[in-house]
Amino acid sequence: MFNKIKQLLPFFCYSFLLSFLFCINACNTKKENTKAIKNDWWKEAVVYQIYPRSFKDSDGDGVGDLKGIISKLDYVKSLGVDAVWLNPIYASPNDDNGYDISNYREIMKDFGTMKDFDLLLKEMHSRGIKLIMDLVVNHSSDEHEWFKQARSSRTNPYRNYYHWWPVEKGKPPYRWSFFDVNSDAWKFDSLTNSYYLHYFSRKQPDLNWENPKLRNEVYDIMKYWADKGIDGFRMDAFQFASKDTTWPELPKGYEKNVIKYYGLGPHLHEYIKEMNKEVLSKYDIMTVAEGAGSSPNEALDFVDPQRKELNIAYHFEGVDVGKNISEFGLEKYKAIYSRYDSVFAEKGWLSIFLANHDQPRMVNKFGNDAPEFREASSKMLTTFILSMRGTAFYYNGDELGMTNIKFNSITDYNDVATKNKYLEIQNKGGDTTAYIELQKLTSRDNGRTPFQWDTAANAGFTTGTPWLKVNSNYKYINVVTEIDDKNSPLNYFKQMIQLRKNNKELFVYGKYELIDKANPNVFAYSRTSAKEKILVLLNFNKEISRIVLPKGYSLGDELINNLQPLKLQGSDISLQPFQACIIKLK
Ligand code: GLC
Repeated sequence: MFNKIKQLLPFFCYSFLLSFLFCINACNTKKENTKAIKNDWWKEAVVYQIYPRSFKDSDGDGVGDLKGIISKLDYVKSLGVDAVWLNPIYASPNDDNGYDISNYREIMKDFGTMKDFDLLLKEMHSRGIKLIMDLVVNHSSDEHEWFKQARSSRTNPYRNYYHWWPVEKGKPPYRWSFFDVNSDAWKFDSLTNSYYLHYFSRKQPDLNWENPKLRNEVYDIMKYWADKGIDGFRMDAFQFASKDTTWPELPKGYEKNVIKYYGLGPHLHEYIKEMNKEVLSKYDIMTVAEGAGSSPNEALDFVDPQRKELNIAYHFEGVDVGKNISEFGLEKYKAIYSRYDSVFAEKGWLSIFLANHDQPRMVNKFGNDAPEFREASSKMLTTFILSMRGTAFYYNGDELGMTNIKFNSITDYNDVATKNKYLEIQNKGGDTTAYIELQKLTSRDNGRTPFQWDTAANAGFTTGTPWLKVNSNYKYINVVTEIDDKNSPLNYFKQMIQLRKNNKELFVYGKYELIDKANPNVFAYSRTSAKEKILVLLNFNKEISRIVLPKGYSLGDELINNLQPLKLQGSDISLQPFQACIIKLK
């Protein structure tokens, strides 16, 4: 018996080895088929951004409000979006339209009350819509109680909630400010003979994140809102929170890359990890990092799941194209997206967006608002946002193809950024006319004009005088008109959302591959899931543009097309101006 076993032993060993190898191989194959990125609701969500001041006014004071939003939730639901990101609705003196908060636990009077907020959240949730709140904690308002205390004396317990520079140390090392009339981030305050720091306007003093007390205050505020049941935070300007408080001199040319010298301060990631441990890990909420360094790898550091920080990186390279994309060049633009996608292929998660409240209208910047191109280019850009890998962030009004208002006079503007830069140019004897011309293309107010609901006075936004002028094209660009037109940008947006939702593995998670990268007019890419592959063709040009299908591509059914038909001769495709088409590949 023993001999028999001895004889068979090599055979047993051999078959054991074989099954071991087979198992390893099977496991590897399984690994290859499993995507690296796991499914999450916030990856699949289409996030609709509502600018509350401009969405819908319920009480005739000319300013949008929470009750107004509640009255339009059925419209929001009808779009098919999954979540709403609300710009700040907290108490604020409105120097920067709510981005200067004077009480983080109160609702801005213009917008309503906490009761309205609770109802809004309830009504959203009952419709299956999640709510993402803006969290503005790089700075507060100078009218916040913390700042009032802090500036009252050098020994006040709140003093260290902010950054100060006492006059006896001379002038502080220069820091550039985004919105200051002199571009100077240090403002002298005679009460305590000191300067305070404000990267944004003078009424937005920077909070001192190096102070653990301040950090804990912020975590409490976050818990307050998370306990109310909100579904996420969009972290405003957070990359600037940690500062090198030795205030080293800025090198020459710093203004060409502000983020490099102002962003990603020495303890930033430490603080985000702390925030995650103290707050985020305790709730099922998502977080979006507004601004995320200046390279794909820096952006990844915010959202690499192993690092336990935030969820979605909202980087600016995709909108930092200057006046418009034709000037910037499509090849360069495509390269940005491809670079980011490759760094995020295995882990981390990006947002995809072309507009927000800090941008002009997407049709003006990336498409063309001329009557013959506006609708096509709006639909083409919608196709882009909703067919890329990443969470889609879509700005209210873009579904209608709303356009820049192009104000002719500085008196029409409201935005602190535009007004203060104008003053600065004027004070220095610069060319204010050229500046106003530029603002027609770039000003943030272009994207903030009241939402266009119908053909009634003020586009149905308010019965009073709107806080910012309504674009006169509301007579034909509005919800009511577009609902009835089956070819409208609005109906196209809804179709595109359904297409994405019904094909999540492809549209949300599918692998992205750029095609014909040197094509100066057409942005073409494929998206591939375990089972299927699609081709996305987007003509970013106002001329007919050509693209040759790569070898081995065989076209199947068309999934969507904003300008039928698709003209095909062999493997040569010619696209109409701003045509967009998604086709299955066989
Ligand atoms: C962010 C906001 C912008 C605001 C700034 C200061 O960039 O999006 O609107 O002006 O931060 O809070």
